[in-house]
Amino acid sequence: MRIPDEFLQEIKFRNDIEDVISRYVPLKSSGSNLVACCPFHSEKTPSFTVFRATKTFYCFGCGAGGDVITFIIKIENLDYITAITKLADFAKIPLPEDDGAYREKIIQQKKLYDLNREAALYFHKNLYSNAGKDALNYLYERNITNPAVKHFGLGYASNSWYDLTKHLSEKGFSKEEQRLAFLCRITEKGDYIDLFRGRIMFPIIDLQSNVIGFGGRATGKNADGSEIMPKYLNTSDTPAFKKSRNLYALNFAKSSKRDYLILCEGYMDVIAMHQAGLTNSVASLGTSVTGEHARIIAKYTQTVVLAYDSDDAGKRAMEKAASLLKEVGIEVKALTLDGAKDPDEFIKRFGKERFENTLKESKGYVNSKLDYIHQEYNINNNGEDESERKIKAINKVCEVLSGINSPLEQEVYAAEAAKKYNISFENLMRQIAAMTKKRQKKEKSEFINGEIRKSEGFNDRINPDAIKNLKAVKLEEHIIGTLMMYPELYNEVGGEKGPLCEDIFITEFNRKIYKIFEREIKEKRFENFDVAFVMKEFSLDETGRITKMMVTVTDKAKYSKETLEKIINALREEKVKQNIKSDDIKTDRFDNIRYRADKMQKSNK
Ligand code: CTP
Ligand code: MN
Repeated sequence: MRIPDEFLQEIKFRNDIEDVISRYVPLKSSGSNLVACCPFHSEKTPSFTVFRATKTFYCFGCGAGGDVITFIIKIENLDYITAITKLADFAKIPLPEDDGAYREKIIQQKKLYDLNREAALYFHKNLYSNAGKDALNYLYERNITNPAVKHFGLGYASNSWYDLTKHLSEKGFSKEEQRLAFLCRITEKGDYIDLFRGRIMFPIIDLQSNVIGFGGRATGKNADGSEIMPKYLNTSDTPAFKKSRNLYALNFAKSSKRDYLILCEGYMDVIAMHQAGLTNSVASLGTSVTGEHARIIAKYTQTVVLAYDSDDAGKRAMEKAASLLKEVGIEVKALTLDGAKDPDEFIKRFGKERFENTLKESKGYVNSKLDYIHQEYNINNNGEDESERKIKAINKVCEVLSGINSPLEQEVYAAEAAKKYNISFENLMRQIAAMTKKRQKKEKSEFINGEIRKSEGFNDRINPDAIKNLKAVKLEEHIIGTLMMYPELYNEVGGEKGPLCEDIFITEFNRKIYKIFEREIKEKRFENFDVAFVMKEFSLDETGRITKMMVTVTDKAKYSKETLEKIINALREEKVKQNIKSDDIKTDRFDNIRYRADKMQKSNK
């Protein structure tokens, strides 16, 4: 898909990066740049930097980086097109009329919304028809009332192969569109058949009230009495739906009067809680909580109560959710559900008043972890191995407390724990201090090892070739950074005459960047170049890396044609060395490099 470049440039021109970013984070001057605490990871000293000259940002802490478009994509959790549309909106620039592909994408998205809405209506009607009788009774049995069925737009997908597809086709939607929406699939014979069959349907609605996808819960049993698998079938990511960015029922919860959100695991839990008056509850959609979810949640609330299943999987998921939420500055509490596996079951069994009470008692995350340890080791029960259990529990407690950064908080919890386990506060603190020291030592050595590995190119997921070509990567990054900063230098070292060409790049990632850069520069000449032309072809992580290459290039005077040529020359030597080593050299490539090298030597004379 191509977006007109003039449109991109207009957007960037009208949306000054400094203005836009300062709407989200307070920027402070620092030399010729601006700095802030990074909105994409939690930190106390600012390493997030906005570079006025190049209209880019880069965080030296987490590696996030890019231009104003990248920033909006990241902070608002939008896809590229929606981010651009938003920026165009900010600046009151009309959307381009003439670019078919761009319009097409918007139209396609809209089509999917229409399609999903039609499907949701159909499922809903179906639930109240004869076909949906059992499903509706099942919902009633689970204490879901008619108003809730209507409010959430629940429905039923018949146990048939062509029910929905037939209806949607009659409504004028093509089979291909239905497939794209994840509502039907193609069989081996080439038949388009319904994807959701014999399932209770939960439409997923975004913040703009579009129906973007579905979760479908199996009802009934297989003929042999076994459970139908999978229990839930969910819409996969489509151009209209990303599960890592959406939360079930956030469309309702966002306008709830309570000042916290309840995050749980399931559709049924959300509905049960909303019915009980807790309209501030949401669930992640058949996936664990992501950093994107956490950032979205942070826009609506400061406090989240986790109401996860009480089994081990639930505990693990909760641990992960808690750490992601804390990272964006949210206060995390946890609900302890005694006597039920999830909120839905709890409300059904004990009623909503008791649930409200439990909610009021929900404890800070540390306390609930401590409670859990207390339970796990059965501390109140005397028995033969009482002392062993107690020692194990205290060690676990110390581990939890040694993870608390604030000394004050640590002391308060420690004092309480000392009382609870009937041991001296001093001894407990000594044990905590020892663990903290040990952990810090471990973290430090892990950090150092990590840094060494990073500098050696290990684990580089963005540029996996880096590990084998350490020296070359540095040179390549230098070249790309310089060209992105000073594209006019391309005229001096690239093109037909210069020594630079894509073939001298050794790592594929960097070669790709260079290729796109060259294509753009040839099309637009350097006066019209914008880093956005290159960045739009890369993922957010990759964009961060490209920005990093740019920000290490700081002083133009140091990057004359001559210096750049030296770097190119060094890279060429690396390439030649590598080609001699490798058996499968492509002669034409090799010749091309030689040819250019010769030229360069001649021009240097
Ligand atoms: N889930 C899923 N796919 C599965 C199982 C579960 O996507 N095969 C997701 C669903 O979003 C579900 C949530 O995980 O709502 C929690 O799963 P589970 O606890 O098994 O189901 P409940 O929501 O509690 O549903 P029910 O009470 O009807 O069993
Ligand atoms: Mn359940």
